[in-house]
Amino acid sequence: MARAVRFERYGGIEELRVVEVPTPTAGPGQVVVEVVVAGTNPGEAKVREGMFAERWPATFPSGQGSDFAGRIAEVGAGVENFQVGDEVLGWTDERAAQTTHVAAPAGQVTPKPAGLSWEIAGGLWVAGTTAVGATRAVGVKAGETVAVSGAAGGVGSIAVQLLRRAGVRVIGIASAGTHDWLRSFGVIPVAYGDGLIDRIRAAAPDGIDAFVDTYGFGYVELALELGIPVDRIDTIRDWDAAAKYGVQVDGNAAGSSVEALAELAASAAAGELEIPIAAVYPLDKVQEAYRELEQQHTHGKIVLRP
Ligand SMILES: NC(=O)c1ccc[n+]([C@@H]2O[C@H](COP(=O)([O-])OP(=O)(O)OC[C@H]3O[C@@H](n4cnc5c(N)ncnc54)[C@H](OP(=O)(O)O)[C@@H]3O)[C@@H](O)[C@H]2O)c1
Repeated sequence: MARAVRFERYGGIEELRVVEVPTPTAGPGQVVVEVVVAGTNPGEAKVREGMFAERWPATFPSGQGSDFAGRIAEVGAGVENFQVGDEVLGWTDERAAQTTHVAAPAGQVTPKPAGLSWEIAGGLWVAGTTAVGATRAVGVKAGETVAVSGAAGGVGSIAVQLLRRAGVRVIGIASAGTHDWLRSFGVIPVAYGDGLIDRIRAAAPDGIDAFVDTYGFGYVELALELGIPVDRIDTIRDWDAAAKYGVQVDGNAAGSSVEALAELAASAAAGELEIPIAAVYPLDKVQEAYRELEQQHTHGKIVLRP
């Protein structure tokens, strides 16, 4: 038997349970991975609460989680490039990563580079590929200035580094506790709250060329007020504002590919991409993990160890 996170109906954190389930088997083209670390992401909390019940409904009992890293435990028919025991990271689209054993298409896993920690590998796919999609959407050129809201969160902390690597000046909107961390990458930190637009203008007197919003709640309007054209604003959260103003919404779906995941993993292993691990919880403490995540002040990633 395997153990996996389950919830039986939409609701609060108390709906999350860890239960025994049949160990999955590898269908054709699939691998089964014995999970060492699984990621957590805010979108999963929204699914559990029923906020996406129309757009992306859950079927009950529902599993949870997309990102994972672990060792191949079984290889399905037709899979040539992996063997039992290989260390990999990857993702599932079945809301099934938070478990001891997950089945996934072999095309959604990639070898874990030596030197990449399990914690980083297990939480990389959603945040990493979303940062790739969102930063690519605003089409930056070296020498430009880009503002990022939620700059030290799971997605934001990767987005600011990708932008810095592209030769961009980055204004990182975040609370004071992460300003030193942001500065260590050459990001100019700006605190959110009253007077934010004046602080941004003071930090970037020549103007802001593009805006990557990972937080929502008014940042699209702020970007428009800063005079940024709609095709150079991307929000991964505020779809209402996007529909109203015509700004971009590229995120995970736009940035995801196994190649992009492999590239992020290689960069992190080489020390060119830093992913802060805010907390590691045992799988049984999944409720505590989401209690912390849902405060919306995570610096980097919160991950689970089955
Ligand atoms: N569309 C997509 O494809 C996609 C993919 C992934 C995620 N998302 C969504 O994107 C959002 C961010 O995801 P995530 O994984 O990066 O979340 P996260 O790791 O929980 O980070 C949230 C960040 O928001 C910051 N924050 C809190 N209050 C803020 C405020 N008033 N102004 C600016 N920043 C503030 C926090 O920083 P401080 O500690 O500094 O407050 C924290 O670092 C979530 O809503 C998620 O559901 C969308």
